[in-house]
Amino acid sequence: MKNAYVSRLAIAAVVVFCAVILGPAQSNKKILIAHRGASGYAPEHTIEAYKLAIGQGADFVEQDLQITKDGALVCLHDLTLERTTNVEDVFPDRFRADVNEDQPPNSQPAKHWYVSDFTLKEIKQLDAGSWFNTKFKGARVPTFQEAIDLVRGKAGLYPETKAPEVYGKRGFDMEKLVIGILKKNKLDKPGADPKTPVVIQSFSAESLRKMRFDLKSKLTLTFLIGFDPQNKWLSVEGMKKVKEFADGIGPAKGLIERNPEVVKWAHEAGLTVTPYTFRSASTGRYKDAREEMRQFLFVYGVDAMFTDNPDLFPR
Ligand code: G3P
Ligand code: CA
Repeated sequence: MKNAYVSRLAIAAVVVFCAVILGPAQSNKKILIAHRGASGYAPEHTIEAYKLAIGQGADFVEQDLQITKDGALVCLHDLTLERTTNVEDVFPDRFRADVNEDQPPNSQPAKHWYVSDFTLKEIKQLDAGSWFNTKFKGARVPTFQEAIDLVRGKAGLYPETKAPEVYGKRGFDMEKLVIGILKKNKLDKPGADPKTPVVIQSFSAESLRKMRFDLKSKLTLTFLIGFDPQNKWLSVEGMKKVKEFADGIGPAKGLIERNPEVVKWAHEAGLTVTPYTFRSASTGRYKDAREEMRQFLFVYGVDAMFTDNPDLFPR
């Protein structure tokens, strides 16, 4: 199933041809990506959440990537540590006071504990589980290497380059680090390990262009598109432009809900469609997450999706 997703990108030209002859391309093989692991049930980006995702049948497990002060790639969604760890207790003085222009005058600057201000050894001291539920106390922030070691052979990897331009300003080359670690694990070529396909995603077109053209990566690339209805990519022409540097789009699900034609535009350009994020905690006008996922997969015709609840994915 995972391989079919990756292969589908390789035969996109044939699919487009068939779409012209036979009507819109349809695939029965829908792909489940566990968003930050099975993050509806366990603290996001912990080994516990990744294991649960695999147990619940995820085709891919997602890793959002950040970089520590000493250059290690770690799996964490935010640039900062305070939302999902006890960093404020362990390192109370190690924050940066960020001035936010939107704040009222004379208000206190916001305190933030940035990943890139801490070494891996320091981050490994943090509890990344208790914020979610005390039964996960002691869960750690995993490195990308630890995620690879856990997931390899059981599911695919779906790393995201998070804020690469921010890390660039701090002297790190996130794309090089990601490709480097994949290469070290012999996962940098499509099909290198058939049981562990790799798809790289980013909200940054620049990051994906760098992967494809500077680092000459042939891995499957997904371009994430946030919820901005004025987004310049959301048109027939825009999709053709995305196809120049990526193999698929990962739109906010609201963009498709607002205009399901986006799926057709993407398919006609030879792009897969992988919306985010489906979760039982917010299902909008739908009765539950399963019904919402079914609508997107089988009515709107998306190819894959990110979900916090892999067990609810309709097969
Ligand atoms: O990567 C897909 C989805 O995860 C994008 O949103 O903010 O959860 O990384 P975010
Ligand atoms: Ca993500």
